[in-house]
Amino acid sequence: MDFTGRDFLQILDFSPDELRYMLDVAKVFKNYKKTGQSHKYFPDKNAVLIFEKTSTRTRCSFEVACHDLGIGTTYLDPSGSQMGHKESIADTAQVLAKLYDGIEYRGFAQKTVDDLAKYADVPVWNGLTDYCHPTQALADFLTIEEHFGSLDELTVAYLGDTRNNVANSLMAMSAKMGVNYIGCGPEVLKPDTKLLKQCQEVAAQTGAQITITSDLQTLANTADVIYTDVWLSMGEDKAKWQERIDQLKPYQVTMDVMNLAGPDAIFMHPLPSFHDLETSVGRDVHDKFGLSELEVTNEVFNSKRSLVFEEAENRMHTIKTVIYLTLKGRE
Ligand code: CP
Ligand code: NVA
Repeated sequence: MDFTGRDFLQILDFSPDELRYMLDVAKVFKNYKKTGQSHKYFPDKNAVLIFEKTSTRTRCSFEVACHDLGIGTTYLDPSGSQMGHKESIADTAQVLAKLYDGIEYRGFAQKTVDDLAKYADVPVWNGLTDYCHPTQALADFLTIEEHFGSLDELTVAYLGDTRNNVANSLMAMSAKMGVNYIGCGPEVLKPDTKLLKQCQEVAAQTGAQITITSDLQTLANTADVIYTDVWLSMGEDKAKWQERIDQLKPYQVTMDVMNLAGPDAIFMHPLPSFHDLETSVGRDVHDKFGLSELEVTNEVFNSKRSLVFEEAENRMHTIKTVIYLTLKGRE
């Protein structure tokens, strides 16, 4: 399987076999990390990490993964480059490709990361756009497979804003891996029709069922994974908080929802999460709208059924896999 020189822009760009292979390689890297086996395969390589939005997990995962692989890094923060302000994406891409062996980008439009990939002749890795979050979906599926032992006959249910970046990648990954997917949320926040159709076409090949519904009862004794994400994503207008709360409060993940899904259902979330008042945004929303927990209750978040921290760890192992496979052969 050859990934050398390829970009990692969205899940739909990869075949089920390629995604299967990435999960298997991630398990090898996880084992190397746990057993202290050095894997500095790229001592002469450098990568640039561009973040036009903030990050904890993705940035740290890229930095640790690069360090473990022997790759040097430059971090560009939201105010740290000329890209898009004083210099076009095309010019920036060509400059960076002269200096670096790989480019990570987190930002707004998917077109920006697609254009970086078009103009840079080194691999470009998508660290989240408004449209998708493909490295998150890889980590999610590694976590699910580790927990259940296999992906066979599983159903993943995403509750809330079913058209956001995380949901889009989770739906695409489910379709590719033959895992049933339920997107459960209000009618007004349904997935993009074109993406849904693409995922349904993939699902028809892999045997997955994709269901988009507003009815929570669809989860009853069916969902193995209950997944949610923030109600307002980075870059969205904060004036929308009241509207989103009204739309999404019925889809808050409570212990009742977990029990509806079944006794063995697990809880997942990409993080960061608003499940208590320990964040300034959480307190702000509480002061304005009176809610002390948003997309998930503190009880579920901190329960034994919650795999959120294992999921966060797996970001690093899967991101390392993407970097390794796309640079392999260029050591
Ligand atoms: N899940 C995730 O992408 O987290 P960060 O925003 O902290 O990178
Ligand atoms: N949907 C969230 C995911 C953060 C990891 C956002 O874009 O803010």
